[in-house]
Amino acid sequence: MKIGIIGSGNIGGNLGKHWAKAGHEVLFSSRHPKELGSLVKEAGDNAKALSVKEAFEANADVYLLAIPFKAIDKISELYAGEYFKKVIIDATNPYPERDGEMAQEVRDANYNASEYTAMKFSTALTAKAFNTIKAHHLRDRAFRNTDRLAVPFAAQDQRSQDITKQLIEDVGFDAVYVGTLDATKIMDPEQEIYGKSTSAAEMRELLNEIGIV
Ligand SMILES: NC(=O)c1ccc[n+]([C@@H]2O[C@H](COP(=O)([O-])OP(=O)(O)OC[C@H]3O[C@@H](n4cnc5c(N)ncnc54)[C@H](OP(=O)(O)O)[C@@H]3O)[C@@H](O)[C@H]2O)c1
Repeated sequence: MKIGIIGSGNIGGNLGKHWAKAGHEVLFSSRHPKELGSLVKEAGDNAKALSVKEAFEANADVYLLAIPFKAIDKISELYAGEYFKKVIIDATNPYPERDGEMAQEVRDANYNASEYTAMKFSTALTAKAFNTIKAHHLRDRAFRNTDRLAVPFAAQDQRSQDITKQLIEDVGFDAVYVGTLDATKIMDPEQEIYGKSTSAAEMRELLNEIGIV
């Protein structure tokens, strides 16, 4: 798959390297793409660096959103084309102390953070994943055969569900489906499964206790 990484920091940089290792074509993007040389080198032949706009114009199959939450509005306006059937995997989290008032508004709203992203990228298919994992676990615990970590995810429809599940499993985590985007409140900061490092069985048990699956 061709995967555009929007925001190549802790989350985007490490996940992009894992996907490149798994054989995917990875387009790292940044507001300063020239500064991504060492990341691209580490990721190998399957990766390159582009501006954020170029990444959206490169017609990737999937985009990972790994930027501060406050950047979503501006980033969603960068590309005027249709996202038809492209999947946006949203790994962002609203933190008022970092993202300001708009993050507090989303936390207080009667929709959750993934639904906010889906509203902003309305012609794409949105999924939520990798927002609940700790950055060092994402970096260090990929590609395990034993002692694998669960990555809970939600998706807007069957296509985004299948693709997101595949991309989680391609890098050696166990995908645990939570539901459609309206179920993702539990994945938001300070909520039930946020920051939980568990096996898939433990994650399912937790979801069961919450009454989700
Ligand atoms: N760190 C964690 O443990 C963790 C875990 C799960 C999810 N998350 C969430 O994932 C997202 C990324 O977190 P991170 O830890 O990877 O952050 P990070 O290391 O700071 O990386 C974010 C990247 O986004 C780009 N960026 C920053 N401000 C931007 C703006 N205003 N517009 C466009 N791009 C901007 C930056 O790249 P350039 O400056 O090169 O453009 C930066 O490299 C956040 O929403 C975070 O809450 C974090």
